[in-house]
Amino acid sequence: MKRTLFKYLTRLLPAENAHSLHTTLIDFMGSLPFGKWWLHIGLAPRKLNLEREVFGIHFNNPIGVAAGFDSNGELLDELSATGFGFVEIGSVVPRPQPGTSRPRIRRLRNSDSLVDNSGYPSRGLEYVLDKVRRRSDYTRNLVIGCNIGKQTASHAEERVKEYLRVFRNMYQYVDFFVINIACNTASKRFVPRTREEILSLIEPLFEFRRGQPDYRPILLKISPDLNREELNTIIDILIETPLDGIEAVAGSLELLPEEAGAVSGARLTERSIEIVRYISERTEGNYPIIGSGGMMHPEDVCRMLEAGASLVALNTGLRENGLKLLKKSSKLLASRTQNAIDQQKPKSDKKQN
Ligand SMILES: Cc1cc2nc3c(=O)[nH]c(=O)nc-3n(C[C@H](O)[C@H](O)[C@H](O)COP(=O)(O)O)c2cc1C
Repeated sequence: MKRTLFKYLTRLLPAENAHSLHTTLIDFMGSLPFGKWWLHIGLAPRKLNLEREVFGIHFNNPIGVAAGFDSNGELLDELSATGFGFVEIGSVVPRPQPGTSRPRIRRLRNSDSLVDNSGYPSRGLEYVLDKVRRRSDYTRNLVIGCNIGKQTASHAEERVKEYLRVFRNMYQYVDFFVINIACNTASKRFVPRTREEILSLIEPLFEFRRGQPDYRPILLKISPDLNREELNTIIDILIETPLDGIEAVAGSLELLPEEAGAVSGARLTERSIEIVRYISERTEGNYPIIGSGGMMHPEDVCRMLEAGASLVALNTGLRENGLKLLKKSSKLLASRTQNAIDQQKPKSDKKQN
């Protein structure tokens, strides 16, 4: 991708500062009179017929925002105005946690990639709850997912109780849930990988959901570092339990072992697409997958959907290449879809057109 002005300016600052400035500007823009309208005019894809139904929810666009971009749900109006199909807030944890000390996110030289060692900072459940409770009418068409993560300071035994606490409190305010079982760099020891460990985490959530009048899909967000056996265990859980889907993948701790942190962005693209293709093939395309990991360019987004993802979630691509990635990806996706439809038409139809 050529060096855009956004990219040039972003590279003048360290990665985390650039993201803070970026989100502050988006927030400021949204607070101006007609600011959200300008965001819509400047950045939202035009009517492109990209709507789809996934796990019983209607999405205006299959492209959304991954966890860690708007962790505390502070930009819902603005991201909605920009035209994203969904925003995954979080990881939400019960109590505020500052994350590790700065600098903790850095760019990899000569690669559109980041190494994240932030430990998933969060303002905590009460703060995020307040944001989603008071979401404005502007977000009426925005699908909101809540990503639940592990409180770094808690012991492994407390995790089940804590995931359930966030789930119950957020249940009526969001549309779907993503349970993060990929590790974050600050809590590597607590990654559930066995069937028993994973079930102990999600079964209480299924149980709570059974008693609710409204259904909220539950997905598992997985690490790209799982071996085949571990990945198969998760696919079996998907097939055999009321789990609704998988989000693949989070940042990788093993792709570049010499880096102290989770690698995201371009270095992850091929691995994330390969994992999504494997899950889709093993489940014969019968279960929803959110594809995440290294979606830096419109072509990556199209390849991810072609590999079997139903939705695509962006993070590093938005941080490093800007919000325009949504519009460009939507355009390419719409033209690919149209081409595919045209090719399926009988020759006589094509001539008439
Ligand atoms: C700075 C940063 C913070 C992140 N925070 C979270 C988080 O809080 N919860 C989570 O599940 N994933 C988090 N992620 C992982 C992303 O959501 C995404 O799954 C991963 O980075 C791969 O996608 P990408 O290459 O598009 O960034 C974070 C990633 C980055 C780079």
